[in-house]
Amino acid sequence: MIKKLILCTLACFTLCNTMHADEGMWLPNLIKERIKDMRSKGFRLKADDVYSTEKASLKDAVVQFGGGCTGEFISSQGLLLTNHHCGYSSIQKLSSVEHDYLTYGYWAKSQSEELPVPGLTVSLLVSMEDITERMAAGENPEAIKADATAKGEGMRATIESMYYGNRQYLFVYQTFRDVRLVGAPPSSIGKFGGDTDNWMWPRHTGDFSIFRVYADADNQPADYSAQNRPYRPKRHFKISTNGIKEGDFTMIYGFPGNTQEYVTSDAVRYVAETSNPMKIALRTQRLEIISAAQAKDAAVRIAYAAKHASIANAWKKWQGESLGLQRLGTVAKKQQYERDFAAWAANNPKYSTLLDSMHAAYEKIIPHYFARELFNESVGSIEAYRMAALLARSDDEQQMTNIQNIYLKGYNKEIDQAIARCMLQEFMQRMPQERIPDTLKQAIAAHGSAGAYIDHIYTNTKLLGDTLPCKADILTDELAAFAKMFENIAQESRNYAFRNLSNVPEIEKWYRSYMQALREWDKERAFYPDANFTLRVAYGEVTGYENVDGEYHTHLTTLDGIIAKDNPEIYDYNIPQELRDIHAKKDYGRWGIEINGRRSVPVCFQADNHTSGGNSGSPVLNSRGELIGINFDRTWRSTMSDIEFDPSVCRNISVDIRYVLFVVDRIGGASHLLEEMELK
Ligand code: ARG
Ligand code: GLU
Repeated sequence: MIKKLILCTLACFTLCNTMHADEGMWLPNLIKERIKDMRSKGFRLKADDVYSTEKASLKDAVVQFGGGCTGEFISSQGLLLTNHHCGYSSIQKLSSVEHDYLTYGYWAKSQSEELPVPGLTVSLLVSMEDITERMAAGENPEAIKADATAKGEGMRATIESMYYGNRQYLFVYQTFRDVRLVGAPPSSIGKFGGDTDNWMWPRHTGDFSIFRVYADADNQPADYSAQNRPYRPKRHFKISTNGIKEGDFTMIYGFPGNTQEYVTSDAVRYVAETSNPMKIALRTQRLEIISAAQAKDAAVRIAYAAKHASIANAWKKWQGESLGLQRLGTVAKKQQYERDFAAWAANNPKYSTLLDSMHAAYEKIIPHYFARELFNESVGSIEAYRMAALLARSDDEQQMTNIQNIYLKGYNKEIDQAIARCMLQEFMQRMPQERIPDTLKQAIAAHGSAGAYIDHIYTNTKLLGDTLPCKADILTDELAAFAKMFENIAQESRNYAFRNLSNVPEIEKWYRSYMQALREWDKERAFYPDANFTLRVAYGEVTGYENVDGEYHTHLTTLDGIIAKDNPEIYDYNIPQELRDIHAKKDYGRWGIEINGRRSVPVCFQADNHTSGGNSGSPVLNSRGELIGINFDRTWRSTMSDIEFDPSVCRNISVDIRYVLFVVDRIGGASHLLEEMELK
């Protein structure tokens, strides 16, 4: 009986990996290896339509936007779409009390009203190439990069390792640095649902913003200049207004940041049982402190909105991830997979001790990595500490004043002090005793408790005042002394600053062999490299899913759902009056569709593409490569797809392109932008 069960789980595990090809983030230059499967699922284009260095292809319409998002060209004049949450900091930068574009939106009436965003860049992938053999032959990586970037303005090359160092890839990008804001909906549309709806379905967020890339007279990247002209991309997306239905092919082209699909059970157990619970518990406390202060004071609510959102985003994601891993039994499944692997590897001297070595390496590394994560989430989350630690490392007066200004803008001492009391206590309780600095133990003992010590610091420090004391006084300041106690821990922490636990060098070297071994052993499995912020293709279909027994979540939401959530009393659900008026009159014009026997406007849809953080803003394409939406989220219970993808629940969430057009046209009054696009 037991034997049968084990066999059964094994069969499912390997089968799951081959049957559901909707899992996967594929390298565009190797898409020819997937094209048969894609076409069998409805895709109509050819491999070299997706990626080519010889002719214009879809990849030329995709950009890396800002630090960690994706964007796409939608006109021959460099018009660019991304998410509202990706454009957020740019919109914020351009906003003031008199011109509050974040709250009310912004719509340039002509190109002369498009607003340059200092510091914002977008990068286009020029080419990607497997250079493993060149590297193995001893070619100098710096020379390879220099050679690749010699021609053309704004060129940048990176070499990225795939499959834990088994393959090396050269990526060449061209970076444009004159990028201007063209349009943004009011936050009550672009951020509708806020943190309440974040990572959730049904979803009704109009999460988009519009930019334009400018170039010099030769269509090359240039610093901002009034003489610059709209960039003419090699390729832009046509837009489909024909709508979608369940089962339709979809494809996502973008820059996912970080997955770890091949890690061993030790790593998964660490994430699910140690790391996530600690981080969630600490963030719950910080969020409670912030929310309580926000509820009492409207000014605090606004000042802490962005901080709250960023703490809450990962906090919710980790909860879904832990639940998902538990529900799938990922640790037990991986353990079984490893037992089977070990049985196969037993007779192969190259691999027979591999898993033991990895296990031993994890035993050694996990305490260090945990200390880093705990330190960052506890003491490292105290704003006053972070400021003092930076001040201590600086000798330049101007730089120190800048550091202080940055930290104290929108700073709330009471909130930070409450967080500090709480976080220092957590640090003391959760950190193994031998890692806690003696000076800290003594200081706390002298004041009676961690909380009393924090109160003493915040009462006596001069670093949180309007003017910075002189360096000599900083050296004897209580807050500076507190920061100094963590110097060693902070240093050790930086030594473990890797993308995730499996990228720590002591363990990564074993993964390199493990990946080779898996390919030899698990021949049916389709291997794709883990996400690492390089360009990928994911594909699947538009589809709902069964959320709980008996409750099916359909694939599409509509304006009716926005109206149902609308509530002027609740900040996250208070929509613009125009939207209410349009709905009341059912005055949808060309944007109205028949859905379930009623007339409404489509808003968001879900699909089973394999996506991750960084895929925000990615173009969602139909079988003809036309734009049908912009990706912006996953459902929270699917976030374990960064470790194990489950096609029955994993869903990515996109804003329907028809809602984008409706908002541009009817809320923004910017129909001139539609004329620039190619609507089909
Ligand atoms: N969850 C999405 C992502 O991971 C959207 C985050 C922004 N929205 C928000 N309400 N915080 O980035
Ligand atoms: N919102 C995420 C981002 O900004 C994408 C959601 C996800 O993690 O799938 O990249």
